[in-house]
Amino acid sequence: MILVTGATGTIGGELVAALSAAGTPARALVRDPAAVLPAGVEAVTGDLNRPETLTDALDGVTALFLLPGYDNQADLLDRAKKAGVQRVALLSSASAVLQDMDNAVSRYMTLSEQAVRESELAWTLLRPRSFMSNALRWLPQLALGDVVRVQFPDVRVGAIDPADIAAVAARALTGDDLDGRTLELTGPQALLPADQIAVLAAVLDRPLVAHGLSTEETRAELTAAMPAHYVEAFLSFFADGTLDEETLYPTVREVTGRAPRTFEQWARAHAAAFAR
Ligand SMILES: NC(=O)c1ccc[n+]([C@@H]2O[C@H](COP(=O)([O-])OP(=O)(O)OC[C@H]3O[C@@H](n4cnc5c(N)ncnc54)[C@H](OP(=O)(O)O)[C@@H]3O)[C@@H](O)[C@H]2O)c1
Repeated sequence: MILVTGATGTIGGELVAALSAAGTPARALVRDPAAVLPAGVEAVTGDLNRPETLTDALDGVTALFLLPGYDNQADLLDRAKKAGVQRVALLSSASAVLQDMDNAVSRYMTLSEQAVRESELAWTLLRPRSFMSNALRWLPQLALGDVVRVQFPDVRVGAIDPADIAAVAARALTGDDLDGRTLELTGPQALLPADQIAVLAAVLDRPLVAHGLSTEETRAELTAAMPAHYVEAFLSFFADGTLDEETLYPTVREVTGRAPRTFEQWARAHAAAFAR
């Protein structure tokens, strides 16, 4: 039995769908027992910030897909080990490479990786670059018109399809060949935001135009959306350029045996979400 945390979220959602399709026994950790899940995936409630609430969720589990950044991750992993869990795959990110304890995002990724490495479980660390699904943040703008204001317009990112992250996670959780590996996960192309908008324009058959925001405009947008320490983290990554999300890696192909999906493939698969 595989326990998937964040099963109602982007990556966990793709993972439970993939495990369900493959007929692999999977359990979803949820906070809302009414959460809708794929066929055959059972739901167990629990709170990642309170590992003592995970006893039922961990019962009978052999492998764990874990989100980063929650409280007491060492305690959670210790409880997992005692419950019989053998391996864990951690959703981390490129920012763990930096080990920058003054950066709020890099810090929680680094601490989560450290807790997993220090656990007595077999582990795989997944370091995806930005998710292609982040393009869904443009939905409110797309509903209003064809000009899309984009943050960090000069930054190329090897964005990855969440389904590819889930495919790698599934492999890590169902065998031992990825034990002890730290996997840098990218899509096949490093695109500018304007490149992604051009792909969306073609897929949606709309005359979309990207309008690049200045750093100060970006700071204002981020400040409206998240706490200040995360605003500073993202400005450090993408305005100061501390984070490299441009370099591409062959990992998805090596692990899954097929090419990572392009942004165009992702956009076509999710075109309905952009319909107005
Ligand atoms: N977006 C990117 O480009 C990117 C790139 C690399 C890494 N990451 C990392 O990916 C992580 C987020 O993954 P995601 O995008 O797949 O998730 P997501 O879509 O943001 O959803 C969050 C999930 O976590 C669950 N959750 C939240 N608080 C919880 C708690 N206290 N106990 C149990 N479950 C809880 C939510 O459940 P509910 O349904 O109950 O709310 C939901 O299933 C973040 O750490 C982020 O830094 C993101």
